[in-house]
Amino acid sequence: MILLGALGAARAAPPDCAACHRDIAHSFARTAHANASRLATAESILGSFDAPANRLNSSKKGTFFLMERGEDDRFYQTGVDGDRRRTERFDLVIGSGRRGQSYLFWRDNLLFQLPVSYHAGTARWINSPGYEDGTVHFGRAIPPQCFGCHATRADLEQAGRSVQYRRPEMILGIGCAKCHGEMPWQHAAGFGKPNGLKTCAACHAGLADERPPEPDVHGDQVGLLRASRCFQKSRDLNCVTCHDVHQVQREPAAFNGRCMACHQRTGCGKQPDRAGGCVECHMPLERSKLVEVQAYRSHRIGVYGRKK
Ligand code: HEC
Ligand code: HEC
Ligand code: HEC
Ligand code: HEC
Ligand code: HEC
Ligand code: HEC
Ligand code: HEC
Repeated sequence: MILLGALGAARAAPPDCAACHRDIAHSFARTAHANASRLATAESILGSFDAPANRLNSSKKGTFFLMERGEDDRFYQTGVDGDRRRTERFDLVIGSGRRGQSYLFWRDNLLFQLPVSYHAGTARWINSPGYEDGTVHFGRAIPPQCFGCHATRADLEQAGRSVQYRRPEMILGIGCAKCHGEMPWQHAAGFGKPNGLKTCAACHAGLADERPPEPDVHGDQVGLLRASRCFQKSRDLNCVTCHDVHQVQREPAAFNGRCMACHQRTGCGKQPDRAGGCVECHMPLERSKLVEVQAYRSHRIGVYGRKK
């Protein structure tokens, strides 16, 4: 498997973009995209392995989980249900940790989700979404579709009568090639910039075709943006009007300038001292329905609180 992390996401797939685009490769290495999936290491796993924080109790007495560092310096999860115990290793991490992480383990060259995940907002271990609380299961298989959005490459191949991941060819993290394509070494004629809406829609259009779109774990920023007047009434508004995906940009107020590109004269005069600026009122945080502790920036730009 090709290792990513630090400069990895830029270096992994030939041609080596970082060789020439050094600054971009450096800043990109810190983004959520570059770190969307990684090998499990002391650095990439955010949860605690020190007692008592390394224990997650379930709602059922006698059923709990332990997260431990092994003598081999690898990391393990043990599910305890009365007298029964099962231990599996942390092999891969999904989630940069901006919001949370899930962990996967290898079995017969297939990947399964560990029953305990990590929630960044509370800095705690939590029951993995999809596993019932109060039970010990390790059976949730991770299909290649997850990696379609969370990695650069992860394909299945036929192995006898079953299938398995092509492990040596997996490329973790969302690298340059995922958006720019795997191009010839020299920039061929016609090679340009990826589309700032279609490229993003491959992963940011939500998992289901929900109507109306809502902010959520697999948030539909594309659907929300399309539902706003800013998008409908202007010709060229897209994701990269506001986001430079090669940099970490998380401060809402830093986006005000992007609004002013179009609203210089018309603004609304309700600025300018609010900490979050235009974004705080017109792109408020909304709670996820799926994971209630989580809040997402609504990409339906509009007037809130007046009518609903
Ligand atoms: C041999 C050096 C070299 C390599 C390797 C290289 N580039 Fe470039 N790239 C350049 C130069 C030079 C330019 C033009 C000047 C500029 O915009 O910085 C450029 C321009 C670009 C542009 C802007 C194109 C446009 O239409 O404005 C993109 C996008 C790009 N490179 C992406 C990539 C990606 C992705 C990779 C890796 C797959 C890559 N480059 C590898 C040298 C390189
Ligand atoms: C291959 C799927 C994929 C594509 C294509 C993609 N994203 Fe993402 N994006 C993700 C995933 C997955 C995350 C969450 C990663 C994490 O935190 O683990 C993410 C996170 C982000 C974030 C949060 C960044 C941060 O550092 O906090 C922004 C902003 C974003 N994407 C914007 C975009 C834009 C704009 C585009 C199009 C130019 C785009 N994405 C294309 C999958 C994708
Ligand atoms: C259609 C693309 C897509 C598919 C398929 C997908 N995800 Fe995601 N996932 C995303 C995007 C985009 C985000 C970030 C959303 C945001 O921050 O608004 C995300 C967020 C996450 C997060 C939270 C990470 C963080 O810190 O924000 C986890 C964990 C996760 N996905 C796991 C999975 C698993 C496991 C699967 C397969 C069962 C899966 N995803 C399938 C696109 C996808
Ligand atoms: C999430 C998708 C995504 C990833 C990953 C990504 N890019 Fe880009 N990149 C874009 C988009 C979209 C544009 C066009 C931006 C625009 O139109 O302003 C772009 C533009 C560029 C440009 C043109 C100059 C500029 O800043 O606009 C270069 C060079 C470039 N990317 C290099 C890279 C390199 C090198 C990597 C990996 C380290 C990378 N990109 C990773 C989506 C991505
Ligand atoms: C690419 C140009 C563009 C950008 C960037 C842009 N807008 Fe707009 N926005 C528009 C247009 C065009 C309209 C429609 C004006 C009209 O109907 O006369 C609009 C409408 C609005 C409205 C009225 C919405 C409604 O439902 O009545 C608000 C509020 C608004 N924008 C706020 C913002 C904020 C805040 C930002 C930055 C986060 C922003 N816009 C970024 C072009 C843009
Ligand atoms: C008018 C400006 C604007 C546009 C256009 C825009 N965003 Fe954002 N986006 C923001 C702001 C502001 C934030 C909050 C900053 C943060 O928390 O990282 C944000 C946050 C995000 C996040 C982090 C997760 C979240 O929901 O809190 C993702 C992912 C994202 N945007 C994706 C996209 C995609 C995909 C598009 C195109 C469909 C897009 N954005 C278009 C302003 C914009
Ligand atoms: C304190 C909250 C708040 C802040 C901050 C804020 N707005 Fe508004 N904005 C509103 C409200 C409420 C309205 C609805 C009209 C009204 O009641 O005056 C509005 C209306 C608008 C409209 C529609 C005007 C119309 O005539 O329909 C635009 C465009 C707009 N705001 C842009 C901006 C921009 C750009 C910024 C940042 C420079 C900003 N707003 C900051 C609350 C805010």
